[in-house]
Amino acid sequence: MITSIGNPRKITKAVIPAAGKGTRLLPLTKAVPKELIPLGRRPVLEYIVDEAIESGITEILFVISEEKTAIRSHFGGSLDCVRFNYVFQTEQKGLADAVYCARDWVGDDPFAVVLGDSIISTDQSVLPFKRVLDAYETTQASGVILVQKTPRDEVSRFGIVKPKNAIAPVFEIDALVEKPMPADAPSEYAIAGRYAFSPKIFEHINRTPIGANGEYQITDSIGCMLADGAQVWCVALGENEVRRDIGTFESYFEAFRLMMNQ
Ligand code: UTP
Repeated sequence: MITSIGNPRKITKAVIPAAGKGTRLLPLTKAVPKELIPLGRRPVLEYIVDEAIESGITEILFVISEEKTAIRSHFGGSLDCVRFNYVFQTEQKGLADAVYCARDWVGDDPFAVVLGDSIISTDQSVLPFKRVLDAYETTQASGVILVQKTPRDEVSRFGIVKPKNAIAPVFEIDALVEKPMPADAPSEYAIAGRYAFSPKIFEHINRTPIGANGEYQITDSIGCMLADGAQVWCVALGENEVRRDIGTFESYFEAFRLMMNQ
């Protein structure tokens, strides 16, 4: 890719995992992929694709399944400034496995992962996802994760990061804990659905054991990366920036309200 000449840490490729079963939104997701249900006037994935394009992404790989080819019908092959590609995840074995399906397409380039069921609204001029890509470019991190401050009594729903030093808009971590009890949580910062990775993540995914819910968890793969001595950094969402996933009806309704007027 011409874009990586000159700066090997510049990211122009994004993987959007969208092959999950969406069981928590049944019966809505029986025939319609979760990632295509409406948020206000547009399907979820259109907001996510816009966010990627605005952040400088020019190549997108959707990870889909045989049941979710409607995503390919919706986006086709390209828009003016971005090309769309598709790969099938044959068995839904978790997010880390979905990302692993992208390894041939990614090759030796650094790349981003944008969850297909998670949207972010911001009041800042630089999008949070772009700040993740910028942090990858300007640090020596092998992984950069977007995080969101979460009330302590809700930390047990998320992967929580352990900061190495003080919290700042961009900070380094030395561990991650999946769904900790509030008293054991190493911080109140939860993983928020946007990542940048060195292609070395595939080696770590390959070594990741099956985790929570009997699935391969990307949080565990990032843990392997840290255990290997690699740097992992976080970008924190600001006070007026909101991330919503559409995983449950409750969060879907909140996301719908958030995007209703956009
Ligand atoms: P989730 O775990 O929230 O989605 O994954 P899910 O598995 O579809 O949800 P439920 O539990 O059945 O309701 C977050 C994102 O990762 C994708 C999903 O499509 C979603 O966009 N994903 C998840 C995959 O692509 N493959 C998987 O094996 C798991």
